[in-house]
Order: sequence, then C-alpha cells, then structure tokens
Amino acid sequence: MKILILGGGGREHAMGKKLLEDDHSIHLYFYPGNGGTSTIGKNIENHYTVLDLVLFAKKNVIDITIVGSEFFLLEGIVDIFQNFGLKIVGPHYLAAKLEGNRIFSKSFMKKYGIRTPKYHIFSCYEKAINFLKKNENSISIAIKTNGIAAGKGVILSHNQNDAIKALKNIMIKKKFGKSGNQIIIEEFLQGKESSIISLFNGKDIIPFLSAKDYKKIGENETGLNTGGMGSIVPNPYMTNSIWIDFKKNILEPTLEGLIMEKLTFFGFLYFGLMIAYNKVYLLEYNTRIGDPEAQTLFPLMKSNFLNIIQSSFQHKEISIDWKKLCSCCVVLSSRGYPEKYESGKIIEGLNSLKEPFYIAGAEIKQKKWMTSSGRVLNIVGIGNTIQEARKKAYEKVQKVKFENLYFRKDIGL
Ligand code: GLY
Repeated sequence: MKILILGGGGREHAMGKKLLEDDHSIHLYFYPGNGGTSTIGKNIENHYTVLDLVLFAKKNVIDITIVGSEFFLLEGIVDIFQNFGLKIVGPHYLAAKLEGNRIFSKSFMKKYGIRTPKYHIFSCYEKAINFLKKNENSISIAIKTNGIAAGKGVILSHNQNDAIKALKNIMIKKKFGKSGNQIIIEEFLQGKESSIISLFNGKDIIPFLSAKDYKKIGENETGLNTGGMGSIVPNPYMTNSIWIDFKKNILEPTLEGLIMEKLTFFGFLYFGLMIAYNKVYLLEYNTRIGDPEAQTLFPLMKSNFLNIIQSSFQHKEISIDWKKLCSCCVVLSSRGYPEKYESGKIIEGLNSLKEPFYIAGAEIKQKKWMTSSGRVLNIVGIGNTIQEARKKAYEKVQKVKFENLYFRKDIGL
C-alpha cells in the first residue's frame, strides 16, 4: 500500500505516524513534507504542480492520496486526480469553496438554516462605511475577506475607528489582494471556540472527538493570530446539550444542504464553532483536518485509520472508535512568529523525547535537528484528564531546547 500525503506540517506528520502505527508495511510519500515526514516516508523534494503530482502518483502506483492542506484543494486537485482515475481523499473544487469562498459558505448556511452569526456582504467600500456608521452601537464585529487570504483575512474590531481602518486596508489598499474585493461584516460573538472535525463519506458526517484550538500567539488569547499554538481534546465546553444543539442546528442541516446541492465528497469537514449564550454557532467550514487539532486527535484514535479510509472508498458504513483519554498539544515556535521568524537554530532533546510528538518546521542537517519554520514542534501529552495530559505535555516541553524557543504556558488551563 502506497499513500501520498499532501502538506508539510505537524498535521501531516501526525497522520503519517498514525497510518504507520496501524500498519508498518505502508509506504508513505509526502509533498512537500518536512523533516519529520522524511523520517517515516519519502518527501518529494522538487517543486511540483498538480499535474506533476498526477504523473508522480501514476508512475509510483500510489494507491491513495490524502489532502492535508487547503492549498491543494483550492487548486482543484481532487477533480484532477479523479479525472485521471486516482483515489484521493478530499472535497472536489466546488465543495472546497465552502472553505475557500466565505460568501458562498455563508449563503449555503443561510439557505439551509444553519445557525451562524448575523452578517452583511459588501463589494463597495462606501456602502460598508455607511453601514458601520448607521450601526454605531454594534461595537464588536468581525470583518472577513471573501477569500481566505492564507488564513489572515479575518479582522476583529471592537470600535468604529479600528473597523474603518480595517475596511480601508482591505478594500482600498488591497492588503489581501483580490480576496478582499468583497467582504463580510459579521456580528462578533463572545464565547468559547470549538473545532469539530468530521469525516464525510457522501452519505453521513461522522464527527471526531471535539477539539479546542488556541489561535493567538499570547497567553489568554492575546496578540496576533497564528496557525495554532496548541490544542486539547476533548473540548470541555462541548457539553452533552451543546453536542445535541450542534447536531440539530448545524450538522444535520449541513448534511441536507450538501446532498441537495450535490456537494457530496469523501473527505474531511471541519466545523469552526463558537459557543455563546448556551448555543452553538457555525463561524466557518474548513474542508480538511485542523492543525494542530490533528496532533491531539490522531493519538486518541483507536480505529485503524487506513481501514476507515478504505471502507469509505468501498461505500461501507464506518464508525470510529476513540480511546477514553484526553490529549494536549503544545506548539513550540521560533522567535518572531507569526511575523518574520528566526530559523536555523539547533534543536536539542528530540532524539530521546517520548512519543507522541510531531515535527512541524524542523529538518535534519549534518545529523542535527535544526529549526526551519515559525511553528517548529508539536509536543503532545496524553492522560486521563486534560490536567494530566497538560502536565505530561509540559514535562516533555522542558526536555527540548533551542535558542529563543517560545510556547504558550496556558494550553489546556
Ligand atoms: N487550527 C485551525 C486550522 O487548522 O485552520
């Protein structure tokens, strides 16, 4: 069995480690991969286009390709692979728009009665400004670009001046390029975020355990947005009643909409939720697994991941078993991240570190582990409670060293 995984972060390393743990005989390939994935499989080193990847998959008789990063999905890779008769896990281009095009996604939510914060769409700067002025009392809002702008196109604003500045940057100065030609002004809900990642097999949506992601660089969710500085599973805010609310008001109408709109696919669907006023709201869909949520989910997955994927390709019913444990992932990053960051620092302590841990941005050079990106390592602790998992993760963090290493100390607190 040969599997190609597309992406180059800790998520892809975690997915690869899980597949190998379940079946040692699998051959893994990664594009572009990272230093960690090169220790468990083969990284494709050259720069490849989607068509190059098709040729690679054909030539190397790849059995299954799994898409990790949204970047490939928005290039339409799933449609192209399928046209060449290749098996691939991920949404086709139209369904990937649920992540890649926020207006498409919000209109889908509205049409199918999926609970989401109130919103207004603008393509004209003056009209957006007039709207802000007329709604002076709605102090806190989220301004979102239509395109995802490499994860940066969401600006939270808590006063009119900041909101006007954000609109100017997006719509006049084109800070996010074409992604900001149209924008959404959304009601800001103060609450607790939750990530529900699921597998969609075209007929059913099978949710994973709930996860919580820590997006900001600073403790207590302060400072700039990042790709994620940590995660925990399960999310303590996903109580039974919130799960019931989620299924009724978000998951079930989503499934109905996907079927009605012929947006069915086999791949991952990630519900980015906000729990506020004892209700759950859908902020966004992603059509992939979250990073660093994957790093806390895969270590708790009891079922054989490859069997799940193969059963889905054979249109068999699937269920996913989970260990009754908790996990906590702490992300170690380089100084400067999420802005301009340092790299090329020697990492010590990795070779003797206990599993699970994942490489996000590090490589082996002259037999030494070196930092190579903003997010460097994902250190995971597993325990009977979040507190225990957190304690174990932070004990392991103490064993790793590199110059100007940074991590948040409040993951799972
Ligand atoms: N953890 C958030 C994301 O993967 O988009």
